Amino acid sequence: MKLWGGRFSKETAAEVEEFTASIGFDRRLWEEDIAGSLAHVKMLAEVGVLTAEEAATISRGLEEIREEIKSGAFAYSAELEDIHMHIERRLIEKVGPVGGKVHTARSRNDQVALDTHLWVLRKVDEVLKLISGLQAALVRKARAHQNAILPGYTHLQHAQPILFAHHLLAYFEMLERDRARFLGCRERADLMPLGAGALAGTTFPIDRELVARELGFSKLYENSLDAVSDRDYILEFLSASAILMVHLSRLAEELILWSSQEFGFVELDDAFSTGSSIMPQKKNPDVPELVRGKTGRVVGHLTALLMVLKGLPLAYNKDLQEDKEALFDTADTVCASLKIFTDLIATLKVNEGRMLAAARGDFSTATDLADYLARRGLPFREAHAVVGRLVQKCLAEGKALEDLTLDELRAASPLFGSDALAALQVEQSVERRTSRGGTAPARVEEALKRAEAVLSGRGAL
Ligand code: ARG
Repeated sequence: MKLWGGRFSKETAAEVEEFTASIGFDRRLWEEDIAGSLAHVKMLAEVGVLTAEEAATISRGLEEIREEIKSGAFAYSAELEDIHMHIERRLIEKVGPVGGKVHTARSRNDQVALDTHLWVLRKVDEVLKLISGLQAALVRKARAHQNAILPGYTHLQHAQPILFAHHLLAYFEMLERDRARFLGCRERADLMPLGAGALAGTTFPIDRELVARELGFSKLYENSLDAVSDRDYILEFLSASAILMVHLSRLAEELILWSSQEFGFVELDDAFSTGSSIMPQKKNPDVPELVRGKTGRVVGHLTALLMVLKGLPLAYNKDLQEDKEALFDTADTVCASLKIFTDLIATLKVNEGRMLAAARGDFSTATDLADYLARRGLPFREAHAVVGRLVQKCLAEGKALEDLTLDELRAASPLFGSDALAALQVEQSVERRTSRGGTAPARVEEALKRAEAVLSGRGAL
């Protein structure tokens, strides 16, 4: 007999049970479901809807069920549809009809909303920790190769030399914003929905504040329809995750490029790469490739839930059950990706020599030469043209900018002095970029110190 079987004269088709069941995935909400029920029961006793004895019996049953699930002794079946029904049915089995009082003044609609809120809150904290962990790995790597210079790129063409540490710290900043997005998500998830009932509230004299306090919520939903219909906090979790994964996927792409023979800037540790079944020489960057690939499914989950919600009338509709797989898979993917990238970065070998060699002889100090002329009063646009012609001359003669002699520079512009040649050196190019946020070693040192302070303040470094 179904818990809602009263008005039905036929058994549910097995096919329908199979199709509508969510137990296969929502069993992950068991801990939150039990915590929610315990708080609910405590409140019902407090306001006199349950006797103290009834509440104690129900609570004891719930605690026993918690142990059963933990130990793996709990039995699941599609007939019971979801985790909420499973726990309630088991409770009645254990403590008798009084167990059925647990669902007084409650609906599965506000129950599932409560469980999912609690789950998201817990996950956000886990993700925040993992983000800090990856940031710490990046900052440590930056510190270890603080003065390494590599070409900076725009359009994937050599642009201006930069410090490798500066490049890594760009990801530190991106992850800081990701963190802020997850904190924002947490703020919106910190809303207690229980008490909304199915959609309209309840006829019982409940104390929603008490339940909120009991479960650690700082705010309550103010509208019962909103409480059971809202999935914004899940959308925010998915969208913060999608943006985070896009960041990881950009880093993944760079790691893949940098570890190619053509670049050779980094080498993945043997423990973090894989081989080929046919080509004995291969060492493949499968881990960053998978992180890049998994970004697609996380972005897909966000799109999927946005589409589920679009045009959905208030309040609960079964469509909303589709939120969970998207949420769970996203959280799993994000956590796994953050974890493995943290270890991969920590073990990454950096080839400073290859980076420096690539940064030299590549015209990437052309801007420095133009800046030199501009400092001597030539309008930057004219300086740009002078250096452009010098680049053209070098290309025609098959040489690098730093092969030019002072005489050749002077022939292009009388403003060039004997110190102009030094401007062509990548070290000096980097050194001079002292503007706030720039790649000068002094600035990068400040940025590293700042990042280190932030992370150690969080206990992550
Ligand atoms: N399994 C359902 C879900 O995940 C729980 C809520 C069911 N409510 C209902 N009226 N069918 O959304």
